[in-house]
Order: sequence, then structure tokens, then C-alpha cells
Amino acid sequence: MDAQSPAPVPPPGCPAHNSGGQVPLHGPEFAADPQAYYEYLRHYGPTAPVELAPGVEATLVTDYAAALQLLQDSGAFRKDARRWRAFNEGKVAPDSPVVPLLAYRPNCMFSDGAEHLRLRQAVTDSMARVDSRRLSQRTEQVSNYLIDQFSTRGSADLLGDYAKQLPLFVFNELFGCPADIGDRVLFGISGMFDGVNAEKAAEVLFQAVGELVALKRSKPGEDVASWLMQHEARLTDEEMVHQLALLLAAGTEPLRNLIGNTLHRLLSHDAYAHRGGLIDEAIDDTLWENPPMSNFAPHYPAADMEFAGQKLQAGELVLVSFAAANTGPALAAARQAGSNRAHLAWSAGPHACPSKEPARQITVTAVENLLNQLPDVELAVPEDSLAWRPGPFNRALVALPARFTPVKPVRRPSRSDDRTEAPAREEQSGAARASERGGLWSQFLTWLAR
Ligand code: HEM
Repeated sequence: MDAQSPAPVPPPGCPAHNSGGQVPLHGPEFAADPQAYYEYLRHYGPTAPVELAPGVEATLVTDYAAALQLLQDSGAFRKDARRWRAFNEGKVAPDSPVVPLLAYRPNCMFSDGAEHLRLRQAVTDSMARVDSRRLSQRTEQVSNYLIDQFSTRGSADLLGDYAKQLPLFVFNELFGCPADIGDRVLFGISGMFDGVNAEKAAEVLFQAVGELVALKRSKPGEDVASWLMQHEARLTDEEMVHQLALLLAAGTEPLRNLIGNTLHRLLSHDAYAHRGGLIDEAIDDTLWENPPMSNFAPHYPAADMEFAGQKLQAGELVLVSFAAANTGPALAAARQAGSNRAHLAWSAGPHACPSKEPARQITVTAVENLLNQLPDVELAVPEDSLAWRPGPFNRALVALPARFTPVKPVRRPSRSDDRTEAPAREEQSGAARASERGGLWSQFLTWLAR
């Protein structure tokens, strides 16, 4: 901390009051007003001591320039979580709620150097084969299906009934999941993120993804899972399972929150109501001011070092606050002046999100279709009564209650392009006919086959 600056004042209700220790980012106070916390954390300088969960300490980079320096220096800052000293020394409880997102897995997010390049190339090349027209059509079908489930009611929770479900369904489509496997993928990934029986949910997810890999080995289709498998990186079955699970986890949770936070912005800020191109603008403003992944990019110094005026030890956990960096004074001024300096909502450097185009396209389609189908949709509760999920990493609404004039469920999927689909499509319809009472994915496939 700068010796000249006044003593920082913790935000109201912050348990860091009088503690002088790590600032906790896991309580309801942080969820209620993260910007007050970022303002407070900036008083420490470019980095600040934080607590991610009880007993899990980290250094958080809040300054834009320091964040870029860290994200681009992959020699000094490593991603392999097996370097995490506190975890290796048993100082972090294995059942801590942050461990599932921080502990090592053999995927591109946790690898460095040549291994990272190899795995990431396989992921980016396979995602790049997704046809953008088909992605929009699939997203619109899923969107129509989900809207059909609540359109006659005149009210819905746009988070739980829509934004949360849509990415999961779209990923099942992208991966070419047949009914039975798709149901378990949906169950597993939702359970993991909701923290409901998370261990069992993870087991179900990995089992289902393992079965998907076996299925695609014997019967490849025109889908991301098959393209990943056919890639020249020649992924093993274990690597396949972990890259697919990463795509699901890294894709669905932030995507749900980008859709949710954009809808929240559109429904709560009158400023968007009468302007053309409003959806793109609302997405950009959300990425700047309320990024779905607010604090992440866990890194570990390769050696003891000095960074941004702070001593760091090898293997210490260092994260980047994308939200604080985006809204800090330096970047806010640059943004106002019309500078094209990018926000950090997708991170930066070699581990930046490789899927921002498809993520944006899914978000635009999901939001646009909802506003087209329910043109008078509005918030059903005062904006200041909305609650945000606690947790240090994601900026995520608990619910987004809305109301609208009821609409008859008249929409059917467009069938025009279904004939060109992967072989999995026939299996899907067959499985869907056989499992009318199956899980969520089976029900969608049944609806699609009607
Ligand atoms: C189609 C949906 C998405 C997919 C498939 C996807 C996939 C991925 C993957 C595989 C990585 C790891 C890259 C690496 O380590 O080399 C990643 C990183 C990241 N993604 Fe995405 N993503 C999606 C949507 C989003 C959204 C909506 C956001 C929020 C705006 C987001 C923000 C990020 C960030 C901040 C990182 C860096 C995390 C870190 O460094 O630890 N992603 N994404």
C-alpha cells in the first residue's frame, strides 16, 4: 500500500473491518456490492490479499496494466495447479467449495507450454468447425423450446427457466449427445454448479462424457466431440473426457451469466429501450461493467519474485479480477475517451477464452429471440430486490423474475436443415420417442421430433 494514501475504508458490512487480514470474497456482502469491494481493494495497490473461501488465501490483481502483464508472462506465471503450495501442504480443505474449480485436471486450462498449445489447438480447431448459421439455428430451436415451456404463464424466471438451461441444451447439440447421455450431462453439470450433491453430479457427468467418447470412437458424427477426436493432436480417451468436460464447464456457467446479466441490464436500464443495436450494446456494457467471470485466471509464480511492488512466493495462488481491472480508473477513462483498449472479460494472453465468437453469437440469438417472442417482457420485481449468488468467481443472478403478455406455444422447430444432420440425429429421435418421460434432454428431443 502507498504510504501516502489514506487508510482504506472497508465497504459496509465487510468482515475485513478491523481485521487487517485477507478480504473475504465469499460472503453475501461481497455478492451484494462487489464494486464497493473492488474500490476498497484498489487501496492496497495493484494487488490485494483476499480470501476465496474460509481458509483459502490468494493475491488478487485489480489493476489493468498489472493484470495484462501477468496474463501475458507465461514464463513467470504458470497455470499448472499442481504448483499450488497451500494445497500441496494440506492448508486447503479438499472439500472447500473453491477446490473443484481450482484443483488440477489434465486439460488446456491447467497446462503450460507445449502441452497447452497442443490441447488448446485441438479445442480451438474443433470449435472453429462449428458452422455459425447452424449454431444460430440450433440456439433458436432451443430458445423456442424453452420459451414454449413458460410462454402461456405470463411470467417466468428468466434465469432458472431460460438463461441457465439454454447453454446446456446448446452444448448437448454441439457435442451430438444422444438422449440418454445428454440427460446425464445436463444433470451432472447443473448439479456441479448448483452445489447440489456436487460429488455425485461430477461422477455422473464424467461417466456420461466417457460414454460419449466411446460412442463417438465407434460412430463419429458431424459434431465437436467427433472433430476433437479426429484432430491431429490425437487425444487419448482420458484427454478427450477432460477437454469435453472443460468445454462444458468453461462454456455453460459463464454463458448462462452473460445471457442473464445482459437480460438484467436490458430490463433494468431504460436507456436501451429506444436504441437500435441495443442487444450488442447491452452485451458490451455487461462485459465491461458486470463480466460473468469476475475474478479468475488462477496462476502460480514459477519462482519467488517481485511483481507490481509486491513480493510473491513460488506456488502462491494469484488471480486476476477482470471486473476490477475493467472498472478501474485507468480503463474507465480510456473507455470514455473512446480508446479501443479492450476489456478483460474474456481474459488475455495465451489462456484467453478461445470461444468468444460462438459465446457471443449464442448470447445474441438467445436474447434477441426472447425479446422477439415476448416483446413486452419486463421485470416482475423491483431491481434492487434481485439477489446475486455468493462466490468469488462468477457474477451471477440467483433469479430474474419477469412478466409479459401470455403467448400461445405455437412455435415448432424449423425442420429445413434437420435432414443434413449427423447420424446422431436419427439416434436422437429414436431415443426421444422411446423416452417420453426421460430427462430434460429427452424431452427436448421429443419436442423436436414432433
Ligand atoms: C461457447 C462458450 C464458451 C466456451 C466453449 C469457452 C471455453 C473456454 C476454454 C476452453 C477456456 C480455457 C482456455 C485455455 O486455458 O487455454 C476458456 C477460458 C476463459 N473463458 Fe471461456 N468459454 C465460453 C464462454 C465464455 C464466456 C461467456 C465468458 C465470459 C465472458 C468466458 C470467459 C473466459 C475467461 C475469462 C477465460 C480465462 C480463464 C482463465 O484464464 O483461467 N468464456 N474458455
